[in-house]
Amino acid sequence: MKITFERSGFDKIKADAYLFLCYEDKKLFDDQIKHIQKILKTKITELNLEDFKGKTGQAALIYTNKCRIILSGLGKKENVTLEKIRVGVSRILKKAISLKIKKVAVEILNDESLKEGISEVARAEAIGCILGNYHFTKYYTTKDKKDQSSIRQAVFFADKQLMEKHARELEKGVRSGSIIGNATNYARDLGNEPSNVLYPESYCNILVEKSKEGNYTTEVLDLEDIKKLGMGAVLEVAKGSEHEPRFMIMRYNGGEEGEKPYVVIGKGVTFDSGGISLKPPAGMAMMKLDMCGSAAVAGIFEAVSKLGLKLNLVGLIPMVENMPDGNSLKPGDVITAYNGKTIEIDNTDAEGRLILADALSYAAEFNPKSVIDMATLTGAVIVALGNVTSAVMGNNQELIDKLSVAGNETYDRVWQLPLFEEYDKLIDSDIADVKNGGTGRQAGTITAGMFLQRFIGDYPWAHIDIAGTAMRDSKQDFLPKYATGAGVRLVTQYLINEETLTS
Ligand code: BES
Ligand code: MN
Ligand code: ZN
Repeated sequence: MKITFERSGFDKIKADAYLFLCYEDKKLFDDQIKHIQKILKTKITELNLEDFKGKTGQAALIYTNKCRIILSGLGKKENVTLEKIRVGVSRILKKAISLKIKKVAVEILNDESLKEGISEVARAEAIGCILGNYHFTKYYTTKDKKDQSSIRQAVFFADKQLMEKHARELEKGVRSGSIIGNATNYARDLGNEPSNVLYPESYCNILVEKSKEGNYTTEVLDLEDIKKLGMGAVLEVAKGSEHEPRFMIMRYNGGEEGEKPYVVIGKGVTFDSGGISLKPPAGMAMMKLDMCGSAAVAGIFEAVSKLGLKLNLVGLIPMVENMPDGNSLKPGDVITAYNGKTIEIDNTDAEGRLILADALSYAAEFNPKSVIDMATLTGAVIVALGNVTSAVMGNNQELIDKLSVAGNETYDRVWQLPLFEEYDKLIDSDIADVKNGGTGRQAGTITAGMFLQRFIGDYPWAHIDIAGTAMRDSKQDFLPKYATGAGVRLVTQYLINEETLTS
């Protein structure tokens, strides 16, 4: 979707529909309706508004003699949040999509008094618009299906008075919102790509191509490099697949030369069959989404580089396909990770933590300011937290708190689970330094975190389990079915906040 911001005022805009947000509070509601009638030079009758009161979730479609208007309710002003604004915009947009409208004009909520500030409001609206407009249509072959889903252009505008005072902030908000929204949709596209198209080698090509349009770089470690470096876990997990593993390193240098980088790591299992510990057939197709952690890394690079954040960022992506084969890794095997620690394989389906072990120990080479890994790591996190929030764990409370703040700001949220010492013995092995899994029904998400902790270096670290949030089996507002892009908005916001802290 093309998003633009109209500086020269409302009169220049011609659209198929005009979208407005409304508060439920009587006076504000009436003022808004008056305002809409004035700028559109049209009349909205009482009957038009019979059922629409501006309550949260309500939407109304109005035909006047001049144009189509779509209203979306935000509820009472005192309860309004940026998330209600994002959802509100996405709901009116869905309405517009269902009408096969191609060009919409969206008025930025005319309210300077919200504590988040007008720029954040504009950003939230742009994000709600872009995320709500997403549909993975690549593999439809009929024009009908391809076209069904999306709006081509959204023009944002603001009330005259608001424009006079805040034009730059508004424009900045819309711009950053479209960058972040598009970066999230990019991660969704990668996630939704099937595993016969996206496997380690081709995944690298896709990311390399994309990086050519941006100001960040990619470096691909191939099978030989991985062997030479001693990334035994990546090697061993990949053994059963026809596809070789890859390890991608991404770099963005927006900060001073030599300034410590932030490191983000993403699980890149392009298909997780479980390996020899084969998964049951039901739902296995979803396991093409087991690279959503790495897709989030790719999305974060898109966002951070386009926003031009003044910081250095390194992305690490171990890529493998986890398959059963005569040559596969087997339960009982012992393997050696990059840092020299030995791992007894209890279950070949606990492959994510294995490849992350290599990536986490490799991350120490970059002398990082902080390391954040994202992974669709455990089914247990879905039992614990559903698809509402990701789980976060780590060794540094300050980092976790910062992620919680960024999560609450974006609603790409995290909830902390403990890494208490007592859990550690559950992953002890009789014959190696540590074992992967095998803790029965106990604390599956935490023991995965404990496992990762054994491989970190001397740096602040947080692990985010996005198994519940990155892939969905149903849609909700601006969250689609399948890949959601979870982690992109969260970590981008964390990095935005870090930049403001240090500048
Ligand atoms: N990719 C899965 C986790 C997963 C499961 C993500 C369901 C999304 C939906 C991961 O590799 C896995 O298989 N984990 C196992 C670990 C167990 C064998 C210790 C799990 O959660 O069952
Ligand atoms: Mn698995
Ligand atoms: Zn997996």
